[in-house]
Amino acid sequence: MAQIIDGKARAKELRKSLKERVASFAEQNGRAPGLGVILVGADPASAVYVRNKERACEKTGIRSFHHELPQDATQQQVEDLIDQLNGDPDVHGILLQLPLPAQLDAQPLIFRIRPDKDADGFHPVNAGRLSVGQPTFVPCTPLGCIDLLRWSGVTLQGADAVVVGRSNIVGKPVAQLLLAEGATVTICHSKTRDLAEKVGTADVLIAAVGRPEMIRGDWIRPGAAVIDVGINRLEDGSIVGDVEFETASARAGYITPVPGGVGPMTVAKLLENTLEGAIRFEQQKLQA
Ligand code: GUN
Repeated sequence: MAQIIDGKARAKELRKSLKERVASFAEQNGRAPGLGVILVGADPASAVYVRNKERACEKTGIRSFHHELPQDATQQQVEDLIDQLNGDPDVHGILLQLPLPAQLDAQPLIFRIRPDKDADGFHPVNAGRLSVGQPTFVPCTPLGCIDLLRWSGVTLQGADAVVVGRSNIVGKPVAQLLLAEGATVTICHSKTRDLAEKVGTADVLIAAVGRPEMIRGDWIRPGAAVIDVGINRLEDGSIVGDVEFETASARAGYITPVPGGVGPMTVAKLLENTLEGAIRFEQQKLQA
């Protein structure tokens, strides 16, 4: 039976240490780290995520600046808001919650966020810095996955890691982080042939496809570490991951539950990114 990786407990531990670091930042700089949050439209899941992130900010002593735009917002309106936050000295990090309503083009908006305020690590400058191994903002969910693996004592150096999913938010950056840890990384996706066979080679499996329980428990290599990034709401209101939990936990060595695995870690890492961004930002000001 797999050891359950308790992301909620690990996130709590991280938030506790963050709270102290945030307090000392505020004392030294005369202001708390600040996160500007942009929510466009009325996607109910996004509204819940944003509320969780803002509550976590408050509890940790980070100021959050909430900005909401209507479902029919124009590209120009979002650009203007990003420009305003880019220029606001109280805002150290900017989060543009995705997905955006269909009339908006996300890519140029992500490009418009100052790279040194890009708390999500989605700007191509930061994605590029990650790929060449320079310190930078790294996307929060991938950071949470790696933290949970290390916290659980899973060996990454030399491990065969399989990532299922190739998004810019999770699949690609988590593959970069695993590579930096010395793992041998295979990235699978919807066009991959023989997915079950590839998943079966994984010492470390990251599932980030967003399809309920599409990874079968009997595909899992016995003893593997399984990180399930999926948060899928079923018609009956229940929430399941991308991995079939019951059967997978009978074979895996370690597994994250859904909910209570990666989800709380994404929020904790956003807070960490905001603080670290604020520290870098204030240092740059001193050097300028
Ligand atoms: N949508 C789903 N995950 C994320 C995330 O980590 N950041 C943002 N901004 N939007 C998301």
